Amino acid sequence: MQATSPIEGVMLVKSGGKAALPDWQALFARLCPTIEVRDWYDTTVDPDSVTYVLVWEPHPDRLATYPNLRVIFSSAAGVDHLTRDPDLPRHVPIVRMGAGEAAQTMGEYVCLSALALLRDYRRIVTAQATAKWDTFEAPRTALQTRVGILGMGNLGRRAAAMLQALGFTVAGWARTPREEPGVAVAAGMDALPGFLAGTDILVGLLPDTPETAGLLDAERIACLPKGAGIVNAGRGSLIVMDDLIAALDSGHLSGAILDVFDTEPLPPEHPAWRHPRIGITCHIAGFASRPARAEYVATAMAAHAEGREMPNLFRPERGY
Ligand SMILES: NC(=O)c1ccc[n+]([C@@H]2O[C@H](COP(=O)([O-])OP(=O)(O)OC[C@H]3O[C@@H](n4cnc5c(N)ncnc54)[C@H](OP(=O)(O)O)[C@@H]3O)[C@@H](O)[C@H]2O)c1
Repeated sequence: MQATSPIEGVMLVKSGGKAALPDWQALFARLCPTIEVRDWYDTTVDPDSVTYVLVWEPHPDRLATYPNLRVIFSSAAGVDHLTRDPDLPRHVPIVRMGAGEAAQTMGEYVCLSALALLRDYRRIVTAQATAKWDTFEAPRTALQTRVGILGMGNLGRRAAAMLQALGFTVAGWARTPREEPGVAVAAGMDALPGFLAGTDILVGLLPDTPETAGLLDAERIACLPKGAGIVNAGRGSLIVMDDLIAALDSGHLSGAILDVFDTEPLPPEHPAWRHPRIGITCHIAGFASRPARAEYVATAMAAHAEGREMPNLFRPERGY
């Protein structure tokens, strides 16, 4: 149990741009009236007064300048935007955003994408764009379709439940073995080829770590059955893009829907933009409203102040 400490000092916010600051200030005035919420760009803030930050993509080396920083709140679930800072103060705990709304919106995105692949939405969109009356039937329904989710964390578990409600058969893959009600969860690298072989639509909801980067290469994509589809909404580093495009071109994969990319924004010249079997969204899959995120942060702050363990802590030894 940590020592207790009152919630006090300044919380610097860099999330949603300058226009969002009044919202954050109003939310925390209600939830944590003892802290002062200030703009990340406000140069009049005394660095010694900063006790918390709530940030997305903070400038590298800035976090190291706050000697009294107690907690870093990531404004999103991923922490790669923080851990790439070589001067990140490693002794300060990082809380990953885990607001329930993000799991709901991600679940909606995953269901939308799985159904879009199932019903060949690109063919539908093309028919309208070319004013062509193109009637066709999907080769199967959700009831005959197996969805495999890579990553059974906050997001993967909710997506699994929502996909099951649509009739899909769902399995998961994670790092640690466990029993998950209604979903078979395979764990570890040895189980991956077999897991992929039993997957018609593969959903990526993994964090970016040294182990997950480049995981879906030509060899692993080849383990999927012919005609499989891929949805990736975790991190772009998961997929070797050239291998994905080659598998789509050869017909081994039927389609892919991608929300995340190695380089964001995806450069306009990238071939994925114009590929006939790739659907692109611009890192919009999962999100939580400011009130939901503020409540999440306030709850974690209270836990920290009372010496309890905070939720969703980043664990450097496992990379997420
Ligand atoms: N596109 C978007 O809009 C968007 C929005 C939010 C989040 N994201 C991304 O989604 C990721 C997942 O979020 P989350 O909240 O669900 O994270 P989480 O709760 O930490 O879950 C991560 C999952 O990945 C698994 N995992 C991690 N490393 C693995 C490995 N080497 N092998 C197998 N499984 C591994 C974990 O396994 P264990 O269960 O065994 O620990 C866990 O099931 C985030 O890190 C973020 O990058 C994207």
